[in-house]
Amino acid sequence: MPSPTHTDNFSPSISALPSLKTHIAKLPLDSYLFNASGPRCTTEEELNRLAGSASAAIMTKSCTMLPREGNAEPRFQALPLGSIQSMGLPNLGYEAYLEMLPRLKQARSSRRGKPIVVSVSGFSISDNVTMVQAFQASSADLIEVNFSCPNIEGKPQVGYDFEQTERALEAICQLGSKPIGLKLPPYFDFSHFITMANIIKKFPVSFITCINSVGNTLVIDPETESAIIKPKGGFGGLCGDYIKPIGLANVRAFSQLLPSSIDIIGVGGIKTGTDAFEYLLAGASAVQVATCFEKEGVECFDRIAKELGCIMAAKQYSSIAAVKGKLKMI
Ligand code: FUM
Repeated sequence: MPSPTHTDNFSPSISALPSLKTHIAKLPLDSYLFNASGPRCTTEEELNRLAGSASAAIMTKSCTMLPREGNAEPRFQALPLGSIQSMGLPNLGYEAYLEMLPRLKQARSSRRGKPIVVSVSGFSISDNVTMVQAFQASSADLIEVNFSCPNIEGKPQVGYDFEQTERALEAICQLGSKPIGLKLPPYFDFSHFITMANIIKKFPVSFITCINSVGNTLVIDPETESAIIKPKGGFGGLCGDYIKPIGLANVRAFSQLLPSSIDIIGVGGIKTGTDAFEYLLAGASAVQVATCFEKEGVECFDRIAKELGCIMAAKQYSSIAAVKGKLKMI
């Protein structure tokens, strides 16, 4: 049985649960949940494990032009309500993912066509052009361009620089017909939601992913009197339960500012069906799981999906579309 939720007193049989089918950029997904570009999606072995799981898609770790080891360790620490990390984009380099895609397609054909989403995180506009162009000519289904990694020393998050965001979109949005999405940093002011939404509306962006970790936070161990991660003087991205209200606010704000043709993927603190349901009310077309996936492995997708299904059944909702964006005001 699914883990306890707010609707624990109602437990319909799994076969009676509503469909969690959804769409991102018109691409059908069998379920509302898949992995975030983050933990456990760097190597071919990890991506194959996702292919064989209940994750609705196979999402890759954000890739760069060249392979990277990432930042010095310790660079990840679990916390009572989530984690802090400064991984520094450890990845195999984009050419390795390009080369891997046909094999992942084999895995996916045995899974009734599981979609593949590639994440790219160039260090310049020209890096992003090269990688997006290459993946436009590949068998990837969607391309998520990461404008929000907070963990590379000397490389500010593109999503906080509105002029650079606009220049980057001019360069990467016309390179092919595969849908392009943006992974955005969290915004904290309505003027920033509005400015970013107005930029996005100028380009053929098909989806946005809100939010990346809350960047440049500091956790101190009072015993050792030291920061708990090494890179960037201890500054790292905060993840998990701590950031769920920020993720929900970003999904909600952008869902009100963008046309409904631009899908929003929610990320940040999703570890139960209740969390996923809240993102659905806020307006997410799908959600990605990061910290909980890091902790639990691929089993989390099936568990959270069943919990979400139970909540929807208890509330007599028959589909994702019936709930999406239906947040009530008081
Ligand atoms: O440091 C990292 O690899 C994180 C990437 C991201 O937040 O996009």
